[in-house]
Amino acid sequence: MTVPAHQLCDLRASSVPSHEATFRQLSDLYLLAEGGYEPVRGFLNSTDTDSVCRTMHLSGGAPWSIPVIFPIDREAKDRIGSSDQVVLMDGDEPAGLLHVEEVFPIRKDVYADSVFRTQDEAHPGVDWLHRAGDYSVAGTVERCSDWTLDLPGALPFSPREVAALVTAKGWETVVGFQTRNPIHRAHEFCTKIALETADGLVIHPLLGETKADDTPADVRLACYDVLLRKYYPAEHAMLAGFPAWMRYAGPREAIFHAQVRKNYGITHFIVGRDHAGVGDYYGPFDAQKVFSEFRPGELGVEPIFFDFVHYCRVCGGMASKKTCPHPSDQHVHLAGRAVRQMLRAGEIPPSEFTRPEVAEILVTAARESA
Ligand code: ADX
Repeated sequence: MTVPAHQLCDLRASSVPSHEATFRQLSDLYLLAEGGYEPVRGFLNSTDTDSVCRTMHLSGGAPWSIPVIFPIDREAKDRIGSSDQVVLMDGDEPAGLLHVEEVFPIRKDVYADSVFRTQDEAHPGVDWLHRAGDYSVAGTVERCSDWTLDLPGALPFSPREVAALVTAKGWETVVGFQTRNPIHRAHEFCTKIALETADGLVIHPLLGETKADDTPADVRLACYDVLLRKYYPAEHAMLAGFPAWMRYAGPREAIFHAQVRKNYGITHFIVGRDHAGVGDYYGPFDAQKVFSEFRPGELGVEPIFFDFVHYCRVCGGMASKKTCPHPSDQHVHLAGRAVRQMLRAGEIPPSEFTRPEVAEILVTAARESA
């Protein structure tokens, strides 16, 4: 839903409070207003936030795994006061309108325990929660008709636009692939195996905020671009952006990632090893196990699970623990930290791990940022 820019200017002139939103809040505003978070259309109220934390369902019964909240501090709470509308600002530019239903204190301990499964402030999601204001504003939103989210690259990222592109291609079964990393051989293997059983594939990198040591989006975009052009058939694979920000909530985020992809025209969703994980907070397959807590068909998207994928020297190709009988000393796999160390040292990751075209982009980016 959109609201004309002049109406937002009039509201501001008539002393409706405005609030400068963070980039994460703008990302949620955009997705809420554009139907990207359907069935959720606004920042959740306290009842739904509690319900989602406790049950992974909204109070009305629909599945939903991560409360989308709009944290503000006490000063903003006092300023917004009892107003029933707030103009959300992107710097100097009106970005949208929040129709205030409720302002409530965030039960941060409950949120952290249920969504992140930890209270440890070293976890990037818990860190965000602790730094965020203590109150949340609930309510539906409208996007300013003149405003859109400022994302890197030029990929389509509106849910309606991407769903229309998928329909135009005539695909009925569509695999979605979430990623916050450059695409390595394991990712390529998962996407291609899944594509064998579907009409189309949407490589759907997350382009909202990630933690500081993740590969920057512009570098990742160059990797996706070269890989798509050289190794995927255009009739069956496309690249689109996902404007959400990373929560690093492992299992809960896997559900969220899968469910919202339905709004992009995706029917099947890849969940591999340690999806949306960070550090050792989640077991490697917790993000798959959590799907069994939902009824068949309840999420509206079918998960496709992958075991741990690696290159095997004996098999002479990519395989997973499920398909390869050889010992791990024959496997080539690099953890993210090891890759970052290699890149910092100017070393090129092996072609069994990442395609040379991708390796070259990563090495160049590491050199330029040194
Ligand atoms: S994520 O935070 O977006 O999940 P990443 O971009 O690394 O991180 O992973 C994208 C998807 O590929 C996730 O579903 C993840 O589980 C899967 N994946 C990544 N590496 C592997 C691997 N070696 N084996 C199996 N699945 C993997």
